[in-house]
Amino acid sequence: MGNKTLAIIKPDGVKKNVIGEVIKKITAAGFKIKALKMVRLTKDSASGFYEVHKERGFFADLVEFMTSGPCVPIALEKENAVADFRKLIGATDPAEADEGTIRKLYAESKAYNIIHGSDSDENAAIEIAHFFSRKELLENYTD
Ligand code: RTP
Ligand code: MG
Repeated sequence: MGNKTLAIIKPDGVKKNVIGEVIKKITAAGFKIKALKMVRLTKDSASGFYEVHKERGFFADLVEFMTSGPCVPIALEKENAVADFRKLIGATDPAEADEGTIRKLYAESKAYNIIHGSDSDENAAIEIAHFFSRKELLENYTD
């Protein structure tokens, strides 16, 4: 069981001005912030990040959405991080998300669901490396 995951407050979350509220929920749930930045993804970077979905019908819209404004990637640490974080954010479609989850509270649709969470320990490591350099991580992970 790994202890790292990558969150991204997506462009809709930044536009709704709820970065603070979302981070408050994350830290209240016991996650430690290990690295954080605000960044505008390029088409190449967003396509690479969501490469597993490249054959899906929603892929072009997803890349368009993820490049539509700045987003906030956050490297998080907690015991059982991947599963606990996905529980905290709720189902992909906010209409199906449990009460009190981040998507239930702030998201408006399956496509515009304000937050990302890694789906496995292996992908968490790949996704953290997508946004944060070794140097940034080494500096931040020594506590
Ligand atoms: P994420 O990767 O962003 O944490 O979301 P997830 O695991 O809950 O969902 P996933 O199946 O990996 O889908 C990635 C993102 O693509 C968009 N999507 N749109 N229009 C659609 O039917 C549809 N399905 C997925 C969402 O932004 C979703 O989070
Ligand atoms: Mg996913």
